[in-house]
Amino acid sequence: MSAILPSGATLYDRVRRVVPPIEWLTFLDDIEAILALKRERNAVILAHNYQTPEIFHCVADIVGDSLALARKAMSADADVIVLAGVHFMAETAKLLNPQKTVLIPDRRAGCSLADSITAEDVRQLRQRYPGVPVVTYVNTSVEVKAESDICCTSGNAKAVVESLGVPRVIMLPDEYLAKNIAAQSDVEIIAWKGHCEVHERFTPADIRQLREDHPGVTVLAHPECPPEVVTEADFSGSTAAMCDYVERQKPPRVVLMTECSMSDNVALAHPDIEFIRPCNLCPHMKRITLANIRTALEQNHHAVTIEPGIAGRARLAVERMLAI
Ligand code: 13P
Ligand code: SF4
Repeated sequence: MSAILPSGATLYDRVRRVVPPIEWLTFLDDIEAILALKRERNAVILAHNYQTPEIFHCVADIVGDSLALARKAMSADADVIVLAGVHFMAETAKLLNPQKTVLIPDRRAGCSLADSITAEDVRQLRQRYPGVPVVTYVNTSVEVKAESDICCTSGNAKAVVESLGVPRVIMLPDEYLAKNIAAQSDVEIIAWKGHCEVHERFTPADIRQLREDHPGVTVLAHPECPPEVVTEADFSGSTAAMCDYVERQKPPRVVLMTECSMSDNVALAHPDIEFIRPCNLCPHMKRITLANIRTALEQNHHAVTIEPGIAGRARLAVERMLAI
C-alpha cells in the first residue's frame, strides 16, 4: 500500500487494525490528493476526535476535543484551515483566525445542541434573570455566542462557571452538561433544554448491561450524557479527558459512552486494551468525508464567513474562555 512515511512505515499501518484493506484502497486516491493539496495551499486540517480513522490518523494535522481545536486553531501556521468536524467548530476557528480562510467540507454538518437555541432565546433569558451571567457551550451558533458573557467546553465548564465568582449562572444550551456541572459545584445553574442527540441515547441500563456482559469493564462517559448515566460511570470528562484517562490508567477493558469513531481512534493507540464498542454515530460529524475534504481544498468549499458586528462580540466570549 503506498503513501510511505519517512520512517518507512506506510500510512495504512496507522489504521490497519480498524480499516480493512479493501476499504483502504477506496481511500488512497483521496488521501494522496489531500496531502498534495495541503502542501500546495499551505493548509492544515483540524479534526475532532469523532472523525473517522482515515481522516483522523491519515490526513489531519491537529486533532483533539473542542477546546484543543479552538486553542490550536489560534496558533495554526497556515493560510487555510479545513475543519473536519461540525459547523460551530469551523465558526470558532474563523472567529479566532479572521484573516485565514476557514473551510467546512459540508455546511450541513450541524449539531442538535447548536440547533436547540437562538440569539433571541438568550436575550429573553437575560430579561428573565437580570444580571445573571450567561455561560455558553461552544456547541452553539456564533449569534448565540455573541449574546453570551463567556463560552465553555466540556473540558473546562466547571472552571469557567467558577471563574465568574457569582452564586448563580445561566448555562446554555445543554441541560445535561449543566446538571452534571451543577452536581460538582456550589454555583447554582439555570439550564436550557438542549440535548446532544448522540449522548442522550445512553441509559444507566446500558451501563448495567455492559458491566454484566463484560466483567471488570471501566466505563467512561461524556458529560453530555444524562446525569444518571454519568453517576453510574467510573469517570466522566470531555473527549480529550477520556483519552487521557485511557492513556494514564490503561484499564484492561474499557467502554467509552460517546460517539463511536472515538473508540476506533483511541483503540489504535492502545492495542493492549480491549475496547467494548456500543455504537452511537453522530450523523453531523459523519457528513465529513475524505472526498469532501478533497473538494473543499480543490474548490475552496465552503468558506466560513461571519458578520463583523456579530464576530466581535462572539470572539470576546470565546477569548474570555481561552484566557482561563
Ligand atoms: P468535546 O470534544 O469538547 O468533549 O465535545 C464533544 C462533542 O460532542 C463535540 O461535538
Ligand atoms: Fe452535536 Fe452531539 Fe454531534 Fe457533538 S456528538 S456534534 S454535541 S450532536
